[in-house]
Amino acid sequence: MNKILSIVCFCLFLFFIFSCEKENVKTIPGGINNEKYNFYIPKNFPTKLYIPEDNPLTYSGIELGRYLFYDGRLSGRTHPDSLMSCYSCHKQELSFEAGFHPKGITGISTPNEMLPMINLVWNPNTLLWNGKVKNIEDLVWMGVIAPHEMNGDTNRTRELIASIPMYAEMFKRAFGTEEITFKQISYAIAQFVRTLVSSDSKFDRYMRGEAKLTDSELNGYFLFTTEEGADCFHCHGGDGNPLFTTNLFYNNGKDDVFTDTRDRFSVTQNTKDIGAYKATTLRNISFTGPYMHDGRFKTIEEVVEFYNSGLKNSPYINPLMHKINDGGARLNDKQKNDLLAFLRTLNDSVFITNPAYSNPFKNKK
Ligand code: HEC
Ligand code: HEC
Repeated sequence: MNKILSIVCFCLFLFFIFSCEKENVKTIPGGINNEKYNFYIPKNFPTKLYIPEDNPLTYSGIELGRYLFYDGRLSGRTHPDSLMSCYSCHKQELSFEAGFHPKGITGISTPNEMLPMINLVWNPNTLLWNGKVKNIEDLVWMGVIAPHEMNGDTNRTRELIASIPMYAEMFKRAFGTEEITFKQISYAIAQFVRTLVSSDSKFDRYMRGEAKLTDSELNGYFLFTTEEGADCFHCHGGDGNPLFTTNLFYNNGKDDVFTDTRDRFSVTQNTKDIGAYKATTLRNISFTGPYMHDGRFKTIEEVVEFYNSGLKNSPYINPLMHKINDGGARLNDKQKNDLLAFLRTLNDSVFITNPAYSNPFKNKK
């Protein structure tokens, strides 16, 4: 009898423990603990990740960062008309771009067009079109303060976020302290951004032997990665570099007069950087227009025509623009179509629909 009673008690005890745990998982977002995030490195990708030593990725940190990324209260305001989050400009379905030249909360346009948030954990260099900002953590401070973004105040944001009951437990799980600081806010968002990985385009599947490219796409790939072809790979990778960017800065021959005060030169003061900007990744290129730092091209067709016949020479053009003496690659119509077909194989629908990157407020039941 005693034995049965103790078994019943033990079962009740187990039931109690499990139901508590389930309740916790359901009501408190932020993962179950602050275990180290198991970063999956896709096949053919570099194994070196750029994660600051003092901000390692944890499950609870990433989940917290995801909530903050999508939370309009990050702007330090509560009125629905005044809410702005990272998501206001960085939309998952557009590879974390806006699709147009965005304006900040005050109506002031951002100085440049958008950049995507793709595979930044492999970027050893600095961020933005001109490389002015060192890391993602710093960009969060900038996003909250900049007049062309949230035009806010980090203290006000910190106070508002700290007053939201849901976050108290999430910060505790992520950082182990009761106190909420703006530094932690920036660290959590940076952790989330570092998990955004695109590795499932048709081209990736082709490289893994899981998909076939058409003859046109294959010819485009050949043009992209050969000097006698369109000669794109020196700056945009593709020749064994799956990131489709070198993360470096070049003057790619768009202009012959340079007046922009926010080019790479403005950061380095090195004259070889006049008119130079980051060669962005070409992953998901169909979703990230308008193109170039100033959005001068609306379609990829226009961009390809620029590289084909629109190059302008200047003392500052990068020596890797080998086709400059011909004004461009001078491809025929079929070759241009093939190059475009190849560029479209870099679109990754898994990335733009991945539930792990999506708006957690929208998906909550
Ligand atoms: C008002 C629109 C807007 C908001 C809000 C915004 N961004 Fe951006 N973001 C931009 C623009 C525009 C750029 C490119 C700016 C440049 O280089 O001049 C950019 C660039 C970036 C980059 C650089 C990517 C790279 O490859 O170098 C990161 C990372 C980023 N933003 C993160 C964030 C985060 C995190 C937030 C929220 C705290 C945020 N942004 C809020 C418009 C915005
Ligand atoms: C010398 C280096 C270099 C070479 C070679 C080069 N590019 Fe670029 N590419 C850049 C730079 C730098 C930018 C950004 C320039 C800017 O914003 O002003 C860019 C931008 C682009 C963009 C727009 C990206 C965006 O998100 O706005 C596309 C598309 C592109 N290049 C495709 C190509 C193709 C196709 C080729 C080959 C025909 C090529 N590039 C060759 C350096 C290069």
